[in-house]
Order: sequence, then C-alpha cells, then structure tokens
Amino acid sequence: MSDTRYTSTVWQIMEALNEANQLEDVLSSGLEIICRALPCDNANLWLYNKDENRVYIVSCEGEKDLTGFSVEIQNSILESVITLGQAKMIEDSNSIETIATDKDLQNIFGKNVLLIPLKTPYGVSGCIQFNDKTDGFNEDDIKLCENAASLLALDIEDKGLTYNPNKNKTPLVSVRNVIKEFPSGEEIRRILKGIDLDIYQGELLVVLGESGCGKSTLLNIIGGMDKMTSGELLIEGKDFSNPTEKELTDYRRDYIGFIFQAYNLMPNLSALENVQFIAEVSKNPLDPQKCLDMVGLGDRGNRYPSAMSGGQQQRVCIARAIVKNPKLILADEPTAALDFQTGQEVLKVIEDIVVNQGTTVIMVTHNVEIAKMANRVIKLKNGKISSIRVNMHPLHAEDLLW
Ligand SMILES: Nc1ncnc2c1ncn2[C@@H]1O[C@H](COP(=O)(O)OP(=O)(O)O)[C@@H](O)[C@H]1O
Ligand SMILES: [Mg+2]
Repeated sequence: MSDTRYTSTVWQIMEALNEANQLEDVLSSGLEIICRALPCDNANLWLYNKDENRVYIVSCEGEKDLTGFSVEIQNSILESVITLGQAKMIEDSNSIETIATDKDLQNIFGKNVLLIPLKTPYGVSGCIQFNDKTDGFNEDDIKLCENAASLLALDIEDKGLTYNPNKNKTPLVSVRNVIKEFPSGEEIRRILKGIDLDIYQGELLVVLGESGCGKSTLLNIIGGMDKMTSGELLIEGKDFSNPTEKELTDYRRDYIGFIFQAYNLMPNLSALENVQFIAEVSKNPLDPQKCLDMVGLGDRGNRYPSAMSGGQQQRVCIARAIVKNPKLILADEPTAALDFQTGQEVLKVIEDIVVNQGTTVIMVTHNVEIAKMANRVIKLKNGKISSIRVNMHPLHAEDLLW
C-alpha cells in the first residue's frame, strides 16, 4: 500500500485528537481526513445506542443532511458490523434493493459502500459508512479505514459517549435545493449551488465557512431579506418560496430576529428606547425592560449607544432581537467585531436564549471554536454544504477559548 497515504492519514487524525477537546469535533474532522485520503466524497458516521439497540447518524461528509437518522440494528445491514465488529463491502449496485427496501434507507445506502466498525478491544461504538466511491474500495483502502476508525473509536472510549437523540424533531424552517446567483459584470456567479437543510425547533445551528463562501447569503434568504434564484423555503412545513410583499414583511417583523456584526443601533435613542421602538412595531412583543435584564443590561437602559462598549451594544441588539419574541433568531458573525471576553459574554446570552427560552438560533461564524457550543454544525464550502455534524454535548459559551 502507499505508505505515505497511510502514515499521513494516521498522523492527521492523531493531530486532530491532540488539538480538539470535543469528541464530536474529532469525529467530524476524522471523517473528513479519511474521505480526503481515499478519496471519497460522501460518508456518514453512525453511533450505536446499546439501550435502544439502534444506530444513529451523527456526522456526515458531503452535502446530504442525514443527521439524526436511525435504524434498528436487528436484521439491518449494519447488524454484523456492529455486533461482530466486521467490516463489510457492498459493490453490487443491484443489491441495493436487498440492502434497504425502505425508501429512506435507499437514500442512505449508495452503490459502492464500505462499512467499517468503530472498534476497540472493549467493544463496538458504531461504524463509518463510505459511499459511492466510483472505483470501489481495495484492500489498502479497507486497511486505511480500519486503522483510522480504530483511532476514532479509542477517542470515543476515552471521552465516553452517551447519545441522547432528540426524537421529536420538527423542522421549523426547511431549505430545499436553494440556488442563488448574483450578476457579476457580464457574467452570472452562482454563490449557493443547491443547499438542502432543515433547521429544528429549539436548536442552535452554527454555519461555518470561510469568508465569501455564501454564509450571509444563505442567512439572508432564510430571513426573507434576499430572494433565492430557485429552490424552496418551507416555514413550519408551509411553502414560503414565493411570498407576497406583505407576507414577507410580516415574516421578517414577527417571525425573525436579526443580530448583525455591526450593531445598527439608533444613536439618538437610549438602550431601552432602542428596544422599545422594536417592541412597538411587533405583533407579540415581550417586555423591553425584561429583555434588557436578560442580556444583563437591566440597569443600563438610560445609556446611549455612544456611551456603551461594543459588547454592551451587541447585547442591546440581542435584546432588540428577542423583544419581538421571534421563533427564529439569525445571528451573522455576532462576535466578529468583539474581543474575546466581550465576545464570550455575547455568546453566553445567545446560549441562554436557546437553552432557557427555547428559541431557535442560526449563527453564522468563521470561528471554528464557536461551533463547539452548537447543537449542530453545518460547514459551507464553495456554495455547497460539505459536512454536517451533531454535537451530542455542546460546550458552554464560557468554556470556549479563542
Ligand atoms: N448583492 C450581491 N451582489 C453581488 N455579489 C454578492 C452580493 N452579495 C454577496 N455577493 C457575493 O457572494 C459571495 C458570498 O458572499 P457572502 O454570502 O456575504 O459570504 P460570507 O458571508 O460567507 O462571507 C461573495 O463572493 C460576495 O461577493
Ligand atoms: Mg458574511
């Protein structure tokens, strides 16, 4: 086998193990590293829940969001992989029907499939599924995957894992095959190239990606501030792809709270007046003073923005977003302009909104550390989703470091 490929893969995984303090982060990096080495574009990581005798997908490489999908082990294709810890390869595309008669399952099991257990001497904690590798998997590929998987399995063993999936998940917003193009001189540039995504009630979803990859564009489309070129937007299951101007205005006003990188506070209004102003034009507002209390500025209501620090101004913006009592809060790089400490204070408030108010938040950032406090993390790359992972144990904002 190509020794360099093997060594460099193992080395990269060891490095990821050393760097990351969050298991989920290691698993998703590990998946990405193995996929790059094979190469293979599409893979999922299943974790085994012994009590339920089910396996759950917690991490995906590729553009398909399968997080939360689960199957019962018994009589499933994964049974021997999980119970005996044996690798399994499925080459014959015609056998898909027998692998998975279920339509949903067919979606998950592609054509050239390799299943590798996450195995330590103490047991099997799940498996990795590699899909649709055009030229199939050879002996060397299997060895590479087995060894890489055992490193990840050791980390699972080491850090301990209890997976408590959120069973009654209902999507608040669904995005289907969303494409966005912008004119650029003579040409048209496609910025979003087909995004499929569900945003669940009560979750903190973090969207990661390098500058210019389309994060804000996606957020603006979800928030009704920009129109998609094609695709569908569903709000609580209802089609919202072609809203009227009135529907759009109502949606932005009543349903969505925005937090931007720039504070956009009205300079001639005090902190409290800034929040009151939004409350007055909202359908179902909360008490403005209580919202200031919630962001820790209850005694600063009389201050004007010019007399407040960046972190305080950003917290007023959060109060302004929550006073509308929106179902969904969209935060675009809310801490990008803040130093570490004030950034962390702002993130604590966001954590509080999600955990204690049950509000759904989508937060865009290019800071990978912030992703550790999310319930799920989506990575965007070149206008497409490149990976999705579930954080079974999100970190508290106060435990983040950057
Ligand atoms: N209104 C616009 N007109 C033309 N191009 C745009 C417009 N908005 C964004 N873009 C381009 O789309 C790409 C993605 O932008 P954006 O979504 O802001 O990225 P991110 O938020 O990930 O940094 C960038 O190349 C940007 O120049
Ligand atoms: Mg942006």
